[in-house]
Amino acid sequence: MAPTRRPWVGGNWKCNGDKATIETLAKAFNEVDFDPKAMDVVICPTGLHYSETRSKMNDKITIGFQNVSKTGNGAFTGETSVTMLKDMGVTTTLIGHSERRTLYHESDEDVATKTELVLKDGLIAVVCIGEQLAEREANKTAEVVTRQMKAVIPKVAADAWSRVVIAYEPVWAIGTGKVATPEQAQEAHKVIRDLLSKEVSGSVAESTRIVYGGSVSDSNCADLIKQPDVDGFLVGGASLKPTFTTIIKSCQ
Ligand code: PGA
Repeated sequence: MAPTRRPWVGGNWKCNGDKATIETLAKAFNEVDFDPKAMDVVICPTGLHYSETRSKMNDKITIGFQNVSKTGNGAFTGETSVTMLKDMGVTTTLIGHSERRTLYHESDEDVATKTELVLKDGLIAVVCIGEQLAEREANKTAEVVTRQMKAVIPKVAADAWSRVVIAYEPVWAIGTGKVATPEQAQEAHKVIRDLLSKEVSGSVAESTRIVYGGSVSDSNCADLIKQPDVDGFLVGGASLKPTFTTIIKSCQ
């Protein structure tokens, strides 16, 4: 982690959670002593649990969404628009999580469209990218993350990059317990940062947060965060445990 970039730590609860869990986790997370000006902590429950989570967690913790519609308001059953997020005071959403890409067939273009809509309305876009196992085994990691990034880059206005967080999440590491090694994470983050430097600018490359996701736990976070281009984490399973506080603290 470079001292010039403010660390970002997110909990992606996916389709999990109930009132009792929110209560337990809020008690634990509210106790972490961190300066919200020096670090972002973002919890993404389901949309249904947004208000309950917001009301239980302290104001230092941002509550975000896991996904947003690629359309505006209208006849789109089951969707939640950027307009609605903004109206309800939601500032941050994940976009293009691998489960959205794989299970719900979201394309690079869908991810790019969502990113553009989110940024146009002044919200923060946490854009998720990462390669499948077969792609890594075929030595295509750089090629895949480059393709995914190149779809998004043209949609980001020069002054909007400060509201973009890139989450590098190798699909083979998500929910598998098979975390990327610190060297593997660093190598991919460096590819992404070098691409930003080449395609956008040196200053955007220097300032954009690139966080790692995929089987991050309280026991592997300390080694990952030591890498110069790892600026925080997007955490699934381990963010549903009170010990997520250890992961938050590792980024301070
Ligand atoms: P995991 O999920 O931490 O459970 O591997 C990460 C993610 O999907 O964001």
